[in-house]
Amino acid sequence: MVLPDAQTVTFVKHWTDRLFSFRVTRPASLRFRSGEFVMIGLMGDPDPKTGKQKPLLRAYSIASPSWDEELEFYSIKVQDGPLTSKLQHIKVGDEVILRPKPVGTLVHDALLPGKRIWFFATGTGFAPFASLLREPQTYEDYDEIIITHTCREAGELTYGAELIESLKTDELLNEVIGEGFWKKIKYYPTTTREESPKMGRITDLMRSGEAFADLGVAPLNPETDRAMICGNLAFNLELKQMFEDYGLEEGANSDPKHYVVEKAFLD
Ligand code: A2P
Repeated sequence: MVLPDAQTVTFVKHWTDRLFSFRVTRPASLRFRSGEFVMIGLMGDPDPKTGKQKPLLRAYSIASPSWDEELEFYSIKVQDGPLTSKLQHIKVGDEVILRPKPVGTLVHDALLPGKRIWFFATGTGFAPFASLLREPQTYEDYDEIIITHTCREAGELTYGAELIESLKTDELLNEVIGEGFWKKIKYYPTTTREESPKMGRITDLMRSGEAFADLGVAPLNPETDRAMICGNLAFNLELKQMFEDYGLEEGANSDPKHYVVEKAFLD
């Protein structure tokens, strides 16, 4: 069967029993800004009455940067999830549906100029930051990039940890952005349900001041700090409230301000 808007899977890697990433071919006409998302999916089961199949699509942040030849995605696997119960079985050479209409708020255009940018992620909410951490503009616009990632278990941090580590030896990025660009990154991974070097929710660690002390930076300040949030709903709402208390205001593409928020994909 020929899928509408089909792209071919070029790479699949399973990180844990709950997480995997994959890469697909990129439509020649697709332009996007690092941090945006697209709708991707598979054909659904045939309707029992009519036998017709409809595409089953969900919003996925593009985890690869805007200059990459392929598109990368980072996904959860939910055993009874309508899409991810099937998507987790894709193999190289399979086709997925990809609607080539990128949108989203986690883009540099939605923020005012600043000195420091914070990326706050839980779980698969790391995906848009996997794109933005490989985007030259991130390093042109900011002196310091702080990425926090809170997961339940230590194994769920691996995709992000390896990606950040790989920047050190990425010849292309070191040449294009400048040798040692990655030294601008401060990475702060934490776990909540399994032992790891740093435990706790980032929200609690910020409230107590521990996160700022560990990082050796001052708390967020609207004069200097910009932030992007991508995690589960409760996390997003809690951080939003904290930011408002720090005096940061939510921005949008049409009205850039201090921070932006997007919900991580869950199925
Ligand atoms: P916790 O284990 O304490 O719930 P999930 O897999 O459920 O999306 O959660 C991913 C991570 O986000 C978990 O480590 C979880 O911690 C954390 N988390 C969930 N809700 C919040 C919140 N409101 N503030 C901060 N972290 C949260």
